Amino acid sequence: MSKPIYILNGPNLNLLGTREPDVYGAQTLDDIAGLCTAKAKALGFDVDFRQTNDEGELVNHVQEAQSNASAIIINAAAYTHTSVALHDALRMVDVPIIEVHLSNIYKREEFRHKSFVSPVAQGVICGFGANGYELAIDAVHKLL
Ligand code: DQA
Repeated sequence: MSKPIYILNGPNLNLLGTREPDVYGAQTLDDIAGLCTAKAKALGFDVDFRQTNDEGELVNHVQEAQSNASAIIINAAAYTHTSVALHDALRMVDVPIIEVHLSNIYKREEFRHKSFVSPVAQGVICGFGANGYELAIDAVHKLL
């Protein structure tokens, strides 16, 4: 079996389902993990789906992906807009990186328009809710 796709989720995404459902949808992170597992399986991939509220832990997951993952799909949530540490970790990785956001960050507050992930990502998918994760798995499938 090839290496799994790491699907990394940042702070507050553990609260999906109850967190601003008008913005982020009604699905929980477990629901999204289930969608991703099924989608990836249909395309012949395994996924390693993770969430952390901790910036350092997210950096550790990215570093680990360099040797253990075939690709990274990342919704870094608020760290997208703030984390130079995350940017630097992603720069070091040479597997494909797809940035995902549930909401369209460019339709929202100005502070969400800046992403430290985008300059080191292969591409960005935002504004399609949970379906964005499935689109990202499709993108990885095409890239690998
Ligand atoms: C988010 C968008 C971010 O701006 C926000 O901080 C999040 C979620 C999204 O998936 O739409 O926590 O990454």
